[in-house]
Amino acid sequence: MKNNKLLVIGNWKCNPTILKQAEALFSSIKNGVGETKNTEIIICPPFPFLNNIGIRYPYKMGGQNCFWEQSGPFTGEISPEMLKNLGCEYVILGHSERRTHLGETDEMISKKLVAAFDAGIIPILCIGETEEQRKQGKTEEILRFQLMAFLKEIPESLIINNQLLIAYEPIWAIGTGNACQPKDAQQVLSFLKRPDIAYRGDWKIVYGGSVDDKNAKHYIDVGFEGLLIGGVSLDAEQFIKIIKALEKK
Ligand code: PGA
Repeated sequence: MKNNKLLVIGNWKCNPTILKQAEALFSSIKNGVGETKNTEIIICPPFPFLNNIGIRYPYKMGGQNCFWEQSGPFTGEISPEMLKNLGCEYVILGHSERRTHLGETDEMISKKLVAAFDAGIIPILCIGETEEQRKQGKTEEILRFQLMAFLKEIPESLIINNQLLIAYEPIWAIGTGNACQPKDAQQVLSFLKRPDIAYRGDWKIVYGGSVDDKNAKHYIDVGFEGLLIGGVSLDAEQFIKIIKALEKK
């Protein structure tokens, strides 16, 4: 059974650079939000802030990435098991920034997905089309292809319900201020819920890409079950506003 709470996921990306600022951001969110009933807040700070700070706040925690092995001679990597042992329940996988800047491929993401499942962490799996692909009317084809490629290593027979979250993040909308129109995002949502696409599970689908306090609620109104928020999650005031608006739903 899915829980009914709306998910508000803050992806801090490579920010802030100072421990004190991370602490201040956590504190402002905590003080401004108070108790929540309808929303589940998941914060994905940079790795160094997970242990010392994250764990002291009443939020679910997520990593922004993980490796596909649990331990071994892999210099610089962080494993899903490490995240799990730090108290993380989630990990973002397949983010387009990692694909663009770090050369992550479908195959790598697929292996990371398997490792996250093995460690018992819920992947927040990002899928999305480029502007060019959208203009050419290829959005559905691309999303179908990405899902197939990412889930390739998961046994066909396995129904993945509560162990996976899908984040629809049109690449052209990430960090651009040019959010996808809710009605266009709704069309994609309907596609992703089609029985031939969602046959592997009744997973929750969240929207990400230039979400702010003005457009946030519209994505929930058209059926998304949460939001993946980048830039605005670093602005405590706006982030709190979004949570409060969803709490009223
Ligand atoms: P954005 O980022 O909200 O700054 O567009 C979203 C994301 O990359 O997850």
